[in-house]
Amino acid sequence: MKVLGIETSCDETGIAVYDSERGLLSHAIYSQVAMHGEYGGVVPELASRDHVRKILPLVRQVLAEADMTQRDVDGIAYTAGPGLIGAVLVGASFARALGWALGIPTLGVHHMEGHLLAPMLEETQPQFPFIALLVSGGHTLLVEVDGVGQYKILGESLDDAAGEAFDKTAKILGLGYPGGPALARLAETGDAKRFHFPRPMTNRPGLDFSFSGLKTFALNTVNAEGQDKQTKADIARAFEDAVVDTLAIKCRRAIQQTGLKQLVVAGGVSANKRLRGVLTTMAKQFDAEVFYPRHEFCTDNGAMIAYAGYLRLQAGLQDDLTISARARWSITDIAAL
Ligand code: KG4
Ligand code: ZN
Repeated sequence: MKVLGIETSCDETGIAVYDSERGLLSHAIYSQVAMHGEYGGVVPELASRDHVRKILPLVRQVLAEADMTQRDVDGIAYTAGPGLIGAVLVGASFARALGWALGIPTLGVHHMEGHLLAPMLEETQPQFPFIALLVSGGHTLLVEVDGVGQYKILGESLDDAAGEAFDKTAKILGLGYPGGPALARLAETGDAKRFHFPRPMTNRPGLDFSFSGLKTFALNTVNAEGQDKQTKADIARAFEDAVVDTLAIKCRRAIQQTGLKQLVVAGGVSANKRLRGVLTTMAKQFDAEVFYPRHEFCTDNGAMIAYAGYLRLQAGLQDDLTISARARWSITDIAAL
């Protein structure tokens, strides 16, 4: 079964083909970062329009690279949410129209389930059940995963998502959009000992997160200490250490609480090197194993949607007559396989 995957929930147009026999055949990602960079963040209407421009050429390119024509596609999976509603609608309408024209099933996929299953595209894969830490621009979730669609939320952010905190703090430091990778780069030259940021919500029990205070802490530090290059790097380092430590402390608790020894880490922030280093060290102490997507599949991509969609289409699920597109959608509200 060959499934075309379409991701348009935010500022990346991601297209891929996943084949049940041969795995991932081809994929392409077009990032709108340069366009939104001028405005310091994603402009939803511009995002939708750019998806309209890019989606068809990218589908053609990905099919050609897989040595396929449209007629070889057996099913289409697209991100049906959560995300920017206009952007989601572009992918959803395109997928439904193409599916209808080709007479093949389509299926709306949950964006965070895509992230969660992305490590399954790699050589060493986790086995159910496992814990997943999902850290993206819009969500921070700790999930107990018992199977595809069997998700129990152990903890989540009560305010800013981890990626959002990176982006907002990067803005305070005068770095471009998206701020996560830029802040991480700057942090490399920072002195870890100069400032100490709090580790929010770690001194009480529970697995929820709160990251919005960290950007305020960064802002206050900037106001008190100035904005010279080294100070900014030192603040970036202190901020990154605080987020990473906090995530690691909660993951450790989740491992202790559930007794599960496998941890999946996915979503944009899972590309962060320091996070990977600290989590890997922590996991070793507990005899646990950590699984990540390859670097390019940490952030939004079509491959994870093709794969998640393949699992569900193969199980016989498909869209009804409505076009599903949702700005908000809990990961616990999806059907278990
Ligand atoms: O998963 P993703 O591509 O989009 C959403 O679903 O939101 O995640 C994007 C987020 C952005 O906030 C970006 O700043 C952050 O992931 N990010 C990083 C890094 N790479 C991307 N944050 C920290 N360190 C990184 N290396
Ligand atoms: Zn995402």
